[in-house]
Amino acid sequence: MPRDSKSPLIQKIARQAYATFRGFDASAVGTDQAFLDKQNELIELVTAVRAADLKIAPRQSQAGSKAELASPPVTYMHICETDAFSMGVFLLRSGASIPLHDHPGMNGVLKVLYGKVSVTCFDKLEGGRGARGEPPPTQSAAAARRSVGEYSEDSGPCLLTPLRHNLHQIDAVEGPAAFLDILAPPYDPDDGRDCHYYKVLQATGAGGPDGDPKERRDEEEEKEKEEVMWLLEIPQPEDFWCGGEPYRGPAVSV
Ligand SMILES: [Fe+2]
Repeated sequence: MPRDSKSPLIQKIARQAYATFRGFDASAVGTDQAFLDKQNELIELVTAVRAADLKIAPRQSQAGSKAELASPPVTYMHICETDAFSMGVFLLRSGASIPLHDHPGMNGVLKVLYGKVSVTCFDKLEGGRGARGEPPPTQSAAAARRSVGEYSEDSGPCLLTPLRHNLHQIDAVEGPAAFLDILAPPYDPDDGRDCHYYKVLQATGAGGPDGDPKERRDEEEEKEKEEVMWLLEIPQPEDFWCGGEPYRGPAVSV
């Protein structure tokens, strides 16, 4: 692909996301070198993006203020959507969380623009059995392996694929945070890609989504800690809702 030095970075990211994920074939990901090369170029571009590139000013914490309590915990800024991917920015107010959810058959690229987030990822395990082959505690629970990473604007992106890290919970750490989110292909309930929410039934150690958030903060950045847990699908949690805000950064067209 010819190098394009004049376009805004977010436009280059959109073009590269389209080139990477157009006609995505989940069964060929591990062996498709052309896909991996394009994905690496996308990761390089996304790693460089900062809040200023999107004309987003980092928000200050107004913890407990009336204005903050009246605002949604999470706000989405839509940038663009094609049949290959969707792209936008999630803004989390201080202490906000995006509860544990999945991205069926999808890839994801999450890059922090300001603040710090803790991302707790899960991989569903084959056959819905625990690490030692034990059956689930209820018929509808699924086993999953958990890992935790912390990301700031200087971190590379957090990646998810249809099989790896496909479920995640995202918590703002130490104040407000924002991240760029690319999902490929986009959510589409009519094509089997609806968003489901989960709760952890059984935590096998401290620091999980039901654990003490302070213990999560104490983890070293991007240090992964893996544990096997049980997940139960639940309706969207009542204390989570997502508002909308217009995107005011450079125009993007794909
Ligand atoms: Fe997500």
